[in-house]
Amino acid sequence: MKLKGRTALVTGGANGIGAAIVESLADAGATVYSLDLATPPAAASMRHGVHALQGDVGRPDDIAQAFAAIDQAGGGIDIVVHNAGIQRAGLCGQLSHADWSAVLRTHLDGMFLCASAAIPRMSRQGRGGSIVAISSAAAFVGLPGRAAYTAAKAGLVGLARCLAVETAAHGIRVNTVAPGFTQTPLIERAMADGSLSEAWMLERVPAGRLARPEDIATAVRFLCSDDATYIMGQTLVVDGGWTAQGIGNAPGWLRQETASTDTH
Ligand SMILES: NC(=O)c1ccc[n+]([C@@H]2O[C@H](COP(=O)([O-])OP(=O)(O)OC[C@H]3O[C@@H](n4cnc5c(N)ncnc54)[C@H](O)[C@@H]3O)[C@@H](O)[C@H]2O)c1
Repeated sequence: MKLKGRTALVTGGANGIGAAIVESLADAGATVYSLDLATPPAAASMRHGVHALQGDVGRPDDIAQAFAAIDQAGGGIDIVVHNAGIQRAGLCGQLSHADWSAVLRTHLDGMFLCASAAIPRMSRQGRGGSIVAISSAAAFVGLPGRAAYTAAKAGLVGLARCLAVETAAHGIRVNTVAPGFTQTPLIERAMADGSLSEAWMLERVPAGRLARPEDIATAVRFLCSDDATYIMGQTLVVDGGWTAQGIGNAPGWLRQETASTDTH
């Protein structure tokens, strides 16, 4: 119960990684507000201490309303996780400006608006705080067909670094978590429309499996806790070794499971 007494806002908390983050923070004792485009479930069906708000992270009015609801509850705000995200695939020259803008708006405007509302409140409260943006392993490699997404996720890393430096003196920590391919509705939609395939993703994951949403939520919870008090402006990559790998499809003698029997 490391987050007992803390209040958190998680954007995109209705599905996938966001839903796992909501559960993980609630398991640690936090009161959690989820802000999502999706219609909120009936309050009676929500877990105790978890509240669902409806809104668009790219709309300043929706962010203002979400923070007004949190203000009204009277517990302040200690944690913000900007997780809401969308994907639009297409090679440059084919990707529309509307799709480019939608991706940057959801990821970057969303983080800017959430942080702009949270930081003055956290500063006034005087008890620090933790802001985490969900970036992606795509921030560190070129993913063809995903120019907007790659730029937005790299942008989040830069934005978090800048905000971390601006807020460190107030004990407010801003960091990013960069997941690799994670089993969520976003990935299932991409597999269904043919823009991703499981074999193509798995081929380059040294861990041999996709991430589960809980793998990402655990890293977020750590960064939100007092265990991470001195971590500021950093990115925690949670990708099963995907970005660390230099040689994909290595021959048998370079893999541990066959190294003892292989000759070369
Ligand atoms: N799944 C992956 O492989 C993967 C990998 C790296 C990073 N990520 C990132 O993790 C985050 C979560 O991804 P996911 O796979 O769980 O996606 P998902 O599509 O399963 O869930 C995303 C949630 O965000 C909400 N959302 C989208 N736009 C919104 C908006 N404008 N305002 C409010 N809510 C909005 C959706 O309604 C949905 O509930 C995203 O930022 C994504 O880019 C995912």
